[in-house]
Amino acid sequence: MTDRKADIAVFVSGGGTNLQALIDAQETGIITSGRIRLVISSRSDAYALERARKAGIDACAISAKELGSRQAVEEQINNKLEEYSIDMIVLAGYLSILSEDFTRRWDHRILNIHPSLIPSFCGRGYYGLRVHEEALKKGVKVTGATVHFVNEIPDGGEIVMQRAVEVMEGDTPEILQRRVMEQAEWIILPLSVEKTAAALIGK
Ligand code: GRF
Repeated sequence: MTDRKADIAVFVSGGGTNLQALIDAQETGIITSGRIRLVISSRSDAYALERARKAGIDACAISAKELGSRQAVEEQINNKLEEYSIDMIVLAGYLSILSEDFTRRWDHRILNIHPSLIPSFCGRGYYGLRVHEEALKKGVKVTGATVHFVNEIPDGGEIVMQRAVEVMEGDTPEILQRRVMEQAEWIILPLSVEKTAAALIGK
């Protein structure tokens, strides 16, 4: 058995419940092949930053609004990733789109969580509550979440894990969003991170 762990950066923009699921999974031993070294937020007011600090994880905001361009953002991100010798990235509710240049360089080393069963309700513009609104509008009886590798196509990279969740009578987008998080996202994201980290360190 190797003692080496993959060094992980988690990118966030909002509340950070998926980040919390990853932090908890490190504590309960679901994630053993990697450790979260760094959290980067696209917004300085994201509650996810607070969660990171509470868990003793280095965290910072790198925002396009403040820096003016995606290029400037990615330059700063690259510096941070280098500083922390990061091996893999997890997008956990990160709302900025990364450049093709960036995703190419991190081929099969960036994971994203999306709150539907890809290829349904995904791609440009499908984020947050909108995904669940569209699922309810369509009348699907089953939805879920998908973890996939990130490439240059939004939500288009190779699928790593999926879990289905039932849609119930009377669901609102908010209720459905919560069920998808509890029954799918918070479970398959840690499992996918462990799987990918283990593969990276050759376990
Ligand atoms: C989640 O629904 C995730 O699937 C999507 O953005 C949301 C992030 O929520 N990509 P949180 O910040 O992890 O609470």
